[in-house]
Amino acid sequence: MNMKSRNYISRLFPLLILLLISAGLLAQENKNNKGFVPEVGQQGKDVVWVPTPQELVDTMLSIANVTPDDYLIDLGSGDGRTVITAAKIGAHALGVEYNPEMVALSKRNAELDGVTDKAEFIEGDLYELDLSKATVITMFLLPEINLKLRPRLLNLKPGTRIVSNTFTMGEWEADYEVDTEENWNSWNTALLWIIPAKVEGTWKIGQDELSLTQEFQFIHGKLNNKEKSSPISDGRLRGNEITFKVNGALYIGTVNGTKMLGTATIDSDGRKWDWSATRSGS
Ligand SMILES: C[S@@+](CC[C@H](N)C(=O)[O-])C[C@H]1O[C@@H](n2cnc3c(N)ncnc32)[C@H](O)[C@@H]1O
Repeated sequence: MNMKSRNYISRLFPLLILLLISAGLLAQENKNNKGFVPEVGQQGKDVVWVPTPQELVDTMLSIANVTPDDYLIDLGSGDGRTVITAAKIGAHALGVEYNPEMVALSKRNAELDGVTDKAEFIEGDLYELDLSKATVITMFLLPEINLKLRPRLLNLKPGTRIVSNTFTMGEWEADYEVDTEENWNSWNTALLWIIPAKVEGTWKIGQDELSLTQEFQFIHGKLNNKEKSSPISDGRLRGNEITFKVNGALYIGTVNGTKMLGTATIDSDGRKWDWSATRSGS
């Protein structure tokens, strides 16, 4: 080999290495993407993969009333079907999934459905994801995982909707539950929770004091004044909306941090008045 051809080979060498690396990456990409077919029951980090039937995905998004204004996060997003369905409605949707092959498959599915601008997938652990931007969270995990997530979910913005395929949240009752009848022999229950505002404590209503305790979306307590202490009944929160009955009147209002504003109506004669309350103690 003469000097000229040796120089030529040494110039080509880095190019060859680059080509080999690219071929390797491409093979890996193909394996992760086009060639990968998921299997129902395949191992996941904390729970196996079982897809939510499409009819139930539609029901879950429908009871959460998902609109283009929403930012949906699917925890453990599998093949991406919930995220893609939300993106087709026009919502921004993010899936977090631990299995990189499922993430690659989801991205490809989003591309096929033409929703890559709205549907995002990240490879990661659902326990480590920041959920604060979500207005809707969907999940098909396990009861014990739901319970582990519950304290974080309860600290999200009031009004955030949580929807679960079948699995519950322990003693935190769902606000709404629906079965998809045609699929009675499969996963077919959608459960919805609406993150309640935090109202436990004491509030001043005019000269009176409203003293409240709270268990998730249910509230109990008393309206106290100098003359009497009246128990409240039917106390409930739906996000920032509060309702309760006391002294024969139905109070409906909106909670805004340390203030509440609303209307009260006497059951027997329909008389109405506006009411407001200011937090006076935690
Ligand atoms: C029962 S499947 C539900 C898939 C999808 N959400 C659906 O409803 O069709 C649960 C998914 O969670 C994923 N997973 C399990 N543990 C996870 C974790 N710690 N972080 C992120 N994803 C996880 C699994 O790989 C699986 O794809």
